[in-house]
Amino acid sequence: MERIICLIAGYLCGLLQSGYFYGKTHKIDIRKYGSGNSGTTNALRVMGPKAGAVVFFGDFLKSLLPCLAIRLVFQNQPDMIYLLILYTGFGVILGHNYPFYLQFKGGKGIAATAGLIMASDLRMTLLCLISFILIVLITRYVSLGSLVVATIFLIWMCVFASMGAYGLKQELLPEFYIVAALICGQAFWRHRANIGRLIHGKENKISFGSGKTK
Ligand code: G3P
Repeated sequence: MERIICLIAGYLCGLLQSGYFYGKTHKIDIRKYGSGNSGTTNALRVMGPKAGAVVFFGDFLKSLLPCLAIRLVFQNQPDMIYLLILYTGFGVILGHNYPFYLQFKGGKGIAATAGLIMASDLRMTLLCLISFILIVLITRYVSLGSLVVATIFLIWMCVFASMGAYGLKQELLPEFYIVAALICGQAFWRHRANIGRLIHGKENKISFGSGKTK
């Protein structure tokens, strides 16, 4: 029952589409421009650095805050709290990626994943942040940085959970691995077009100067 509550609460929080609503204040539907994504990268691409920052923090906080809230609410269940945080974050990502009121056409869930990562483990947050910044600075492919973050998340969560770092009951571990894999798999699925372009050397590169891609 707790799992369903976390998933639904997360989904409802994920529905707050920062990119879509920020675009609306500028009288555009961001999903009709650039990559068609409603997330940070496309907001930066289409509307500039200020929009990118606002959209990132909006999408990041809508994941971080509910994940932290769940941590507080279920603190009396320490042997499954990290599993419940995962369910909450997964719900946020699903709400962000598939908002029912926008014909299920949302974003790619990376800022929401970042919020989940920060609520789960600060060491993993640091590793993801450094990796992301280095990859984007070197390659200028935001999508590649995003996919690396999703991969670090999966490996880190599984390795540390198996070592007992999150205090999970032994019998909950397989479920924990599955939810973590679904979160990572969702990131890859939503980036499938980016992956195709990366393979063929045709992915958009971010430009730090103007906030536009080329
Ligand atoms: O988080 C989204 C980013 O990885 C790629 O965005 O708009 O270039 O497809 P976009």
